[in-house]
Amino acid sequence: QTLELELEAIEKGGYDHFMMKEIMEQPKSVADCLRGRVIAKKNHVKLGGVFNHFDDLLSAKRIIIVACGTSWHAGLVAEYIFEELVRVPVEVEYASEFRYRNPIIGKGDVLIAISQSGETADTLAAMSLAESKGAIVLGVCNVVGSSIARNSHEGAYTHAGPEIGVASTKAFTAQLTVLTTMALMLAKEKGSLTEAQLSDLLTEIESIPSKIEKVLKSNDSVREISSLYKDAKNFLYLGRGFNFPVALEGALKLKEISYIHAEGYPAAEMKHGPIALIDEEMPVVVIATRDSSYDKVVSNLQEVKARSGRVIAVVTEGDVLIPGMVDHVIEVPDTHEVLMPMISCIPLQLLSYHIAVMRGCNVDQPRNLAKSVTVE
Ligand code: G6P
Repeated sequence: QTLELELEAIEKGGYDHFMMKEIMEQPKSVADCLRGRVIAKKNHVKLGGVFNHFDDLLSAKRIIIVACGTSWHAGLVAEYIFEELVRVPVEVEYASEFRYRNPIIGKGDVLIAISQSGETADTLAAMSLAESKGAIVLGVCNVVGSSIARNSHEGAYTHAGPEIGVASTKAFTAQLTVLTTMALMLAKEKGSLTEAQLSDLLTEIESIPSKIEKVLKSNDSVREISSLYKDAKNFLYLGRGFNFPVALEGALKLKEISYIHAEGYPAAEMKHGPIALIDEEMPVVVIATRDSSYDKVVSNLQEVKARSGRVIAVVTEGDVLIPGMVDHVIEVPDTHEVLMPMISCIPLQLLSYHIAVMRGCNVDQPRNLAKSVTVE
């Protein structure tokens, strides 16, 4: 028993929980995921695992992404990224819905299944359905040799290393890394970006690990903010554009491990419902980094403030406008908006972690949840 406990402490690498260890590992896991795949100074971008079917991917009329949970959120970010960089139509589906609704899919379509465990039953079933209808199926998995990896035509591993905490953190950023790399590889071949744009993005993606490292330094201030809101009954998360799926993921992280009710919303949709819930008891996390939706997000957060909501804003370093409008800010380094989700999700992981710990929750093994969902 003692030996087991000691072994577990060693595995946690000095942290109290696997989740914190895995959050802190992200500079390394993203770098591992990029290694050999992106070399900006050589203009190199390639996923070795997508080789025989690269042409199918390149000529796909449409890409369909299926996944569940956090992996589905990575898929949603990928929709924005693929459409922006590759100009190919993308649909993102919950695997459980896709598999039961006689989907329109066939030859010429490519289905990408995203899964940390590679064992999610609904995702596996969605893949075999797509394959039976003639689509090419690619897998983006973390666990090497998993069922989804074995049952896809080809794919790419996320190389995040074992993820033990039930709430996914480093697997999510690694999924974003692989999917962005895939989009850049296609954009290069297709010529949908100029050489300068491509080279900027390749250089920028290489800098993501060090930018994540920088965000992780805000851990203490995020812990302080967490202590002020740990007893909240509800949370709202808002974002637009590339940060909209990050809002969904932030809300999911919080509910998974702290059991606080949380909803993620596209910021502009707030006026069609959630705004009715806003009062001084309602913390609203707004992802308001400097990007093409910045001005719009600023007006959304003013709408929250006008109704006495408490705003925690994730902003770009050096933002001088938002700090004067909201209750708390968490700064993140600037990057291209396409890559921002890999950075802006990090403070939200920390926030949910600290709130859950302060509430005495079992963060690594939340009640009723499983790491790998092998039943439908
Ligand atoms: C479970 C896990 C989540 C995960 C989801 C999808 O609900 O608790 O963390 O996002 O399954 O799992 P997958 O392994 O397919 O990514």
